[in-house]
Amino acid sequence: MKGAIAKAVALLRSGELVAFPTETVYGLGADAENPAALAKVFAVKKRPPDHPLIVHLPGIEHLARWAKDVPDVAFGLARAFWPGPLTLILTRSAIVPDAITGGQATVGLRVPKHPLALELLEAFGSGIAAPSANRYGRISPTTAAHVRDELGDQVALVLDGGACEIGIESTIVDLSRGSPILLRPGAIEPEQIARVCRHDHVLTAALESKAPPRVSGSHAAHYAPTTPLRLVPGERLSDYLDNWHRSGHRCAVLAYSQAAPSVSPYVWRIMPIEPAAYAHDLYSAMRELDELGASVIVVEAPPRDAGWHAVADRLQRAAAGSGREPDDDRP
Ligand code: TXA
Ligand code: MG
Repeated sequence: MKGAIAKAVALLRSGELVAFPTETVYGLGADAENPAALAKVFAVKKRPPDHPLIVHLPGIEHLARWAKDVPDVAFGLARAFWPGPLTLILTRSAIVPDAITGGQATVGLRVPKHPLALELLEAFGSGIAAPSANRYGRISPTTAAHVRDELGDQVALVLDGGACEIGIESTIVDLSRGSPILLRPGAIEPEQIARVCRHDHVLTAALESKAPPRVSGSHAAHYAPTTPLRLVPGERLSDYLDNWHRSGHRCAVLAYSQAAPSVSPYVWRIMPIEPAAYAHDLYSAMRELDELGASVIVVEAPPRDAGWHAVADRLQRAAAGSGREPDDDRP
């Protein structure tokens, strides 16, 4: 076993927190069967206790220990997409501590794909609870440096696995209520889920009104910078910028279809024009622009095409949650 992995396993076994890379974002890991370690996760993130955590597993063969009454579609989806960026919500088994589920009857499970995450999970041999390694409501970290900047010495060890390949959080599908329901869009798209489940389409949480899911990412304000962030349609970008600039605002711009004007008073960051590449860069770019001390981050609204669904979701939440302090719990 590599030294860093051995150290991480020892820390987890003694109830400490270890941040680790996944293919989506960095996670803040704790022994999923140790309530005292789980309490540390909530304290470090300043996360409300009723927001459930995802349990990361070493492989599909662990699924039946953490969930019960597992429907066949769960095994189908796990075989199709694990290891990978898909979280399944299932009925919890008796071993799952209440702290993981926020008192709900369900548990979120996934097998991540990053080689370091898998090595850690295999060496640990059981479930690691891991929310994204950021403070509640803020931008998820996609590098080890982001984690250190955000959480400092509150985490015992940060395993450095480079920049995350995907860059936004996993797709979450609820399988605990009969037909599959998409709770959070991600790199695995609803059409891929529907195909494996042999459904025409997958409902999303917004369409399913009876039992609102308690997904923290489903709050309108999330994934947010402290600088106010505004989404502006591409064709109106230059007018908006002119106006804001004239009224004394220092604007930072995140665009994908338009280059900066030749003489530009703005910090202008060009994003990839392809959604997966855009997602990969999104959180780093938001962090960079957030650190400039600009008065507003102006983001060119993404296309409405289906492939942009997950990116558009994160940008809308970033806009809704931006411009406030992390401990400010206004809705
Ligand atoms: O890609 C990811 O999923 C990353 C990496 C680290 O794996 N993790 C992540 O965790 O995004 P977190 O805690 O930041 O977001 C997980 C979301 C939360 O919004 C939580 O409320 C929801 O999953 N969740 C967890 N268990 C749930 C459950 N039983 N029912 C409904 N939602 C659940
Ligand atoms: Mg998160």
